Amino acid sequence: MLTGPKYFKSTQKGSIVFSLKNKTALVTGAASGIGAAIAQTFAEAGATVWIADMNVRGGEAVADGIGGKFIALDVTREAICEQAPQAVGPLDILANVAGIGHVGTLINTTAADLDKLYAVNVRGIFNCCKAFVPGMLERKSGSVINMASIGGIVAVRERLAYTISKFAVVGLTKSLALDHSHTGVRFNCICPGRVETPFVLARLKEYPDPQAAYRDMASTQLNGRMAKPEEVAAAALYLAADESAMVTGSTMMIDGGWSAGR
Ligand SMILES: NC(=O)c1ccc[n+]([C@@H]2O[C@H](COP(=O)([O-])OP(=O)(O)OC[C@H]3O[C@@H](n4cnc5c(N)ncnc54)[C@H](O)[C@@H]3O)[C@@H](O)[C@H]2O)c1
Repeated sequence: MLTGPKYFKSTQKGSIVFSLKNKTALVTGAASGIGAAIAQTFAEAGATVWIADMNVRGGEAVADGIGGKFIALDVTREAICEQAPQAVGPLDILANVAGIGHVGTLINTTAADLDKLYAVNVRGIFNCCKAFVPGMLERKSGSVINMASIGGIVAVRERLAYTISKFAVVGLTKSLALDHSHTGVRFNCICPGRVETPFVLARLKEYPDPQAAYRDMASTQLNGRMAKPEEVAAAALYLAADESAMVTGSTMMIDGGWSAGR
């Protein structure tokens, strides 16, 4: 008789859930949007979850809501990141989700814009990996999930600095996987298309007709809609769980087919 692997835990007939019981996770950028959804999903899967964000009020609210813990963390501050493991303790899962956007072509992107995007989206992940990955390597176990973007796989129009930064996130993730996957620590990234979060909704308000802009942005997904944060969180749950033990160095597309072709 065929039986499933013992780590698949069925709660009811026909359903399989991934468990993060006895695991500790830290999610950066978890005060809002995709990070908050990932933190909630990890908590629901049984993990002890640290919400790490520079937005103290928002981060504490998410922590209260999901029974998690909050740590104030600006991922661009190397020294603050270095100290974080002392407060948090050993980590099984590090989800680097904190990120910012920018709209502009070469003509209206400044060097300062590029530096800012790089500082948060790339060095922020680098800083958090420098802080937490050595402990994972020592314990020979861990899952690091970096939030890249469709903009890390194909160029996104009028998003020069953002596209540069997200291609770097993919490169950073693959380099980490190549150097360290033999240790048992895994590194993957998630590449969402457009997701309905404050990040995107704030952009829409900048357009003269926000509803038309929403339809336009939704149409880049082949299925004609934006993703919901919990649909990205489901991918993070898989990458965090032991069931994805064979997956490292990957770019998981949650883009409604955007990257398939245009
Ligand atoms: N929303 C989308 O359509 C979309 C698509 C692809 C990728 N992404 C990526 O997903 C991630 C989350 O996006 P979102 O839409 O949930 O954004 P969001 O603006 O809703 O949330 C981002 C969070 O990051 C935090 N943050 C920003 N700078 C920080 C810093 N220096 N240190 C610590 N925290 C910081 C913010 O306080 C906020 O809580 C980003 O990396 C973004 O590039 C988003």
